[in-house]
Amino acid sequence: MTILVTGGAGFIGANFVYHMLEKYPSYKVICLDALTYAGNMETLATAMENPQFIFIKGDIADREAVYKVFESHKPDWVVNFAAESHVDRSITNPDIFLRTNVIGTGVLMDACRKYGTSRFHQVSTDEVYGDLPLDRPDLFFTEETPIHTSSPYSASKASADLLAQAYHRTFKLPVTISRCSNNYGPYHFPEKLIPLMIANALNDKSLPVYGKGENIRDWLYVLDHCVAIDLILHKGKVGEVYNIGGHNERTNLDVVKTILKELNKPESLINYVTDRPGHDMRYAIDPTKINNALGWLPSTSFDEGIKKTIKWYLDNRKWWENILAGEYQGYYEKMYAGR
Ligand code: NAD
Ligand code: DAU
Repeated sequence: MTILVTGGAGFIGANFVYHMLEKYPSYKVICLDALTYAGNMETLATAMENPQFIFIKGDIADREAVYKVFESHKPDWVVNFAAESHVDRSITNPDIFLRTNVIGTGVLMDACRKYGTSRFHQVSTDEVYGDLPLDRPDLFFTEETPIHTSSPYSASKASADLLAQAYHRTFKLPVTISRCSNNYGPYHFPEKLIPLMIANALNDKSLPVYGKGENIRDWLYVLDHCVAIDLILHKGKVGEVYNIGGHNERTNLDVVKTILKELNKPESLINYVTDRPGHDMRYAIDPTKINNALGWLPSTSFDEGIKKTIKWYLDNRKWWENILAGEYQGYYEKMYAGR
């Protein structure tokens, strides 16, 4: 079995690479990653020592390069994590989101058709459903919830989902799609809420909370997401969409206060800043389908997961300090200046 994992040098893709190498020692895992600002070879250092793992630097939107990878490695399955994934960056520069998230997905699926790949799994997001109002805690996203996007990022992910469904219907491409809620855990790039707040708190820097911090996200420990994708690959039904989430809803302010408490830092570090344009209010996944069909249940509660995550950032300071010291610093200053 050979699995092509795109975006494997990023946060979730790398966790998935490690999960698969450990659980299926006989599988070959090929990682195709363009190493954008979000890709990090330090994350894959241990995988690089495994003879079952091969890393290839390349862009999923580069048709020639992608076909070459398929020609050489003939993957049985493709799992597409590669994406521009940060909502804030999609607001300042939507273009690259269209190229990678839409065109890139199309190129990968063309390669799957050309080389007869037996599964294309698209790693999508709950953001394709738009948001839910704060005063309707009874509402959840199901697989039947209409696509209704808010940001250039979510619009690009929704476009990729529609394209994947069209390839399944028109070309009978064996596609599955998963739509997961917010992940957190090791190797999370420190531009996203949880790792950013941990890093800033550890450096006694202010914690920029957008608006009033009332927005709600449904947090899932990254390994639970990886296990769900593993199950969909092995037992899922072609043509189906599976929502993934563990009923771990928290306001942003709750999350930030939990981090401060765990690190024994004062709440005076919180700084309320100008809100994100078009900011989604609440995400909440109904995971009934994947529970019933595949027996998936999350194994890590938020209270346990956030402690494990904070410990990981304390034990792996060099990993995130290297990122903060690089080009990311310029981004941070630009994104948060005068906010
Ligand atoms: P990430 O930004 O940490 O990693 C993305 C990876 O893709 C990086 O390694 C980057 O170098 C690579 N990449 C970017 N453009 C590429 C291109 N053109 N060709 C090849 N590689 C490219 O993202 P993440 O948070 O790990 O998210 C992975 C996937 O999961 C994305 O598709 C995202 O939409 C989806 N998702 C993320 C979350 C979350 O909470 N982070 C939740 C649900 C779904
Ligand atoms: O729901 C799944 C999605 O979760 C994924 O598809 C995306 O790839 C992933 O980035 C994430 O999107 P969010 O926009 O929810 O994540 P982010 O970490 O950027 O923000 C989480 C919440 O925290 C959101 O309400 C905005 C807020 N926030 C974020 C940052 C970076 C702040 O208040 N301050 C900040 O500095």
